[in-house]
Amino acid sequence: MSTPGIRPLVAGNWKMNGSRDMARKLVADLVARAAGSELPVDLLVCPPFPYLSVVADALSGSSLSLGGQDCHTAAAGAHTGDVAAAMLRDLGAGAVILGHSERRADHGESSGLVAAKAKAAVAAGLTALVCVGETEAQRNAGDAEKIVENQIVESIPSGIGFADIVVAYEPVWAIGTGRTPTVADVAAMHRHIRALLTARDPLGAVVRILYGGSVKPGNAAELMAVPEVNGALVGGASLKAEDFWGIAEGAAKSAS
Ligand code: 13P
Repeated sequence: MSTPGIRPLVAGNWKMNGSRDMARKLVADLVARAAGSELPVDLLVCPPFPYLSVVADALSGSSLSLGGQDCHTAAAGAHTGDVAAAMLRDLGAGAVILGHSERRADHGESSGLVAAKAKAAVAAGLTALVCVGETEAQRNAGDAEKIVENQIVESIPSGIGFADIVVAYEPVWAIGTGRTPTVADVAAMHRHIRALLTARDPLGAVVRILYGGSVKPGNAAELMAVPEVNGALVGGASLKAEDFWGIAEGAAKSAS
């Protein structure tokens, strides 16, 4: 078991992919698989905003839960194109991904902004799934742990309940590339993140720390067995029910 007492979470980040039809079919397939087996793993599906409602309906009554991919810091107001945490909650979401490296890169999101979003998310009753991770240049320079440490310190607001936080370690260079860090490097980073969290709050010992970046059915069991890896944040492989399920099965192996 990767951390005794922590139930793994496998989260699918669909990013800006799919269609209404695809969303319905993919979720129906996942729901059927979940109904037929009791994996000791929590499953979360995070579709693009326009499909949240469709996915919420398709997930209804199942053991899978729904998440958003971002939210605004404000509860409501004049913010064209943005989505409030309370709206996600209203549609049945239980979580929201925040500070993904694609948002940090595409939208210039700082860790300070991510912290403000996390605060808003938790205030609205959502779990904040906060993403951190170094670039390849930062790793090659030997700065990976320091970069991730700064992101953790600055992206998780002080005073927030650690029961409402999930951390995802996603090395930027492993996202969508088919490359993953060595098991030893994943173990070292997750150990570092665990130490940072527990130093801040005793509940840091039970915060789920996910690994993300080119997780596939073929490498999931090995990655999920690494100490302090408590599940996966999955991009490309979450768009196929068979692959996402295969990853959930891989996570289940280290949970049992
Ligand atoms: P891939 O699984 O496609 O590498 O994406 C990982 C990711 O960014 C999940 O948030």
